[in-house]
Amino acid sequence: MGKIIRFGISIDEGLAGLFDGHIRKEGYSNRSEAVRDLIREHLVADRWRLDDTIGVASLSMVFDHHQRDLSETLNQIQHDHHELIISNLHVHIDHDNCLEVIILKGRNRRIKELADKLLATRGVKHGELTMTTTGQDL
Ligand code: NI
Repeated sequence: MGKIIRFGISIDEGLAGLFDGHIRKEGYSNRSEAVRDLIREHLVADRWRLDDTIGVASLSMVFDHHQRDLSETLNQIQHDHHELIISNLHVHIDHDNCLEVIILKGRNRRIKELADKLLATRGVKHGELTMTTTGQDL
């Protein structure tokens, strides 16, 4: 971590009140950490717009393993992109449904393409790609 600097900002009283109420509800003890997190969130989201930047993400998806060929198809797609996949968790939710969580690291564009391909596979009921960061520079 670099040197800590302080800076003041001018803000409308009403907006500041809304912000204070919001961060209190979220459990922040002071404005500084809330503002730091907002800045990080913005920077992380901005980096995901860059195709070739290395990102880290988790993809969760729920599917019915009885769906014909689905498990095999999802498995094959993942093998075709094994270099992006760090880890994989498979949970049998009930008799029919499975939850799979895949941890990904690689170029943003390739991670998004892989997630799109998996989520668009017939029989995947729900899924979400959560795009985070390697944490470097933040
Ligand atoms: Ni299962």
